[in-house]
Amino acid sequence: MTKNRSNYVNKIEVLNDALKVSFANNSEDIFPNLWLRDHAKDESNWDERSNQRKTFTAGLNPNIKIKKANISNEGEYIDIIWSDASNNIKYSSEFLYKNSLKYSHDKNQIKIWENKEIKDDIFLNYKNIISDEGFKNLLTKLYSLGFAVITDCKKDMSSVELLAKKIGYVRNSIFGGLWSFESNADMADSAYTNEELRPHTDSTYSNDAPGLQLLLCCEYDAKGGDSIMVDGLKIAETIKSKKKDLFEVLTKIEVPGNYTGDGVILEAKRPIIKLDDKNRITQISFNNYDRAPFRLNPELTKIFYEAISLFDNMANSKQYQWRHILKPGELLIFNNWRVLHGRGSFNGKRKIKGCYINKEDFDSSCKINGLI
Ligand SMILES: [Fe+2]
Repeated sequence: MTKNRSNYVNKIEVLNDALKVSFANNSEDIFPNLWLRDHAKDESNWDERSNQRKTFTAGLNPNIKIKKANISNEGEYIDIIWSDASNNIKYSSEFLYKNSLKYSHDKNQIKIWENKEIKDDIFLNYKNIISDEGFKNLLTKLYSLGFAVITDCKKDMSSVELLAKKIGYVRNSIFGGLWSFESNADMADSAYTNEELRPHTDSTYSNDAPGLQLLLCCEYDAKGGDSIMVDGLKIAETIKSKKKDLFEVLTKIEVPGNYTGDGVILEAKRPIIKLDDKNRITQISFNNYDRAPFRLNPELTKIFYEAISLFDNMANSKQYQWRHILKPGELLIFNNWRVLHGRGSFNGKRKIKGCYINKEDFDSSCKINGLI
């Protein structure tokens, strides 16, 4: 593998309680001594087999000094001798660069979308995604757009299971691990229709909502029943740019979700649009069916209803909905932390098999394949 010399170290300067590092690509950063000492990766401070820290950080001198520091291997490493030790400790330029304050690992692969932006390349063939290259292509699609449809799957649980195991493992929940469901409305009785299931995310009542959901169509003898995908990120970003005050409400107010039945009562709460400490959107949680009762003051109540109505009306507008009737052998896979799913009304018979995969296991697969 060729080394990336752009993050090699050009110059260092020992400051009183920190080390100033300049990289070949002209970026620079000041690393505090205590942080550097805490991240020593020599034998006595780091366990290479388990990738775990051995250092007793709380026992370090907070005013630790650098006795000596120099650049080695033409800038690939910095060697430091600390005041509490006599051995040389190596820090790779790559490690320092990736941990500099300005470093952004965002490879910009996330594409937010509305209906017209989804093209036919959202369909991937089962045979292709089983190969390493094809599998990476599937993960890329899932990472960038939040969903994909895999065609020509075997119409039984084996394809669901194989795919789940390729990404992570099947998640167990109150519904079991691998599940099947069947809707059978009498086609002759036009009064009975399986009503449209409006877009939502699953498990707003769980502290750790499932990351991926897999839905394989095994049988379809019906009219309607299209699968609906809506990019929650697109809705969030649109509200952010047009209705700042309502965006605030959706990011601040924790909404409880509830599941009562089958001998359990599950409840969790979080904002509909969850942000991280850098104000980036990390999760969309919206399920009007499962929302539990909760109170706000009268003024906030009014704004809250305005905000969820805007969100829900957008999710139910054709502009944001990608719709497709799954044929037998087609498997829909989507990121439940981002994409809302729904199903159009239908008459007839549908048999679906599927499962959930944890979000962290999907993330892990993306990291192992170099996507994030
Ligand atoms: Fe659902």
